[in-house]
Amino acid sequence: MSRLDSFIRRVTAQRDVLDHVCTLLAALPGPVIELGLGNGRTFHHLREKLPGRRIIAFDRKLGAHESSVPPGEDLVLGEINETAARFAGIGAALVHADIETNYPDIDAETARWLPPLAASLLREGGIVASGLALSHPELAVLELPAGVPHERYFLYLRK
Ligand SMILES: C[S@@+](CC[C@H](N)C(=O)[O-])C[C@H]1O[C@@H](n2cnc3c(N)ncnc32)[C@H](O)[C@@H]1O
Repeated sequence: MSRLDSFIRRVTAQRDVLDHVCTLLAALPGPVIELGLGNGRTFHHLREKLPGRRIIAFDRKLGAHESSVPPGEDLVLGEINETAARFAGIGAALVHADIETNYPDIDAETARWLPPLAASLLREGGIVASGLALSHPELAVLELPAGVPHERYFLYLRK
């Protein structure tokens, strides 16, 4: 599969997963944590789907399109494993993690620190949507929406 086809499949799965999760969040209070603001496309999508919901976005540096920059108090720059740890206990309804690189060494390291971090950020019943598989005793696998291929995106419920 070409990298272009792979990219299209990834962002389609991402959009479908985020739309699905936004419906699940309707009755669940708490902020959204966006790990990997990047260009801001998924931030922009979440902001549109979840009007009024606080979204705190993290990245090592600001690279988002000007239409997709969060207000200063909701933009946290630096290494996520250090910056987001300061928000443990915030009671997030959703953690969206879009920080996989497809470099096995880096992703293996991320898969080590991301699961406990995500669990610490979420309220009970909160959801993680992640491009990387996560393994943690407080995170239960949630079914993906119909049509999203397994292993393309991962969903978990905070027990
Ligand atoms: C794939 S991009 C995110 C794309 C974004 N969700 C969008 O829709 O535009 C991943 C982003 O995560 C950031 N990132 C990855 N690992 C990180 C880390 N450990 N700490 C801080 N930022 C990280 C990168 O700088 C990059 O901007």
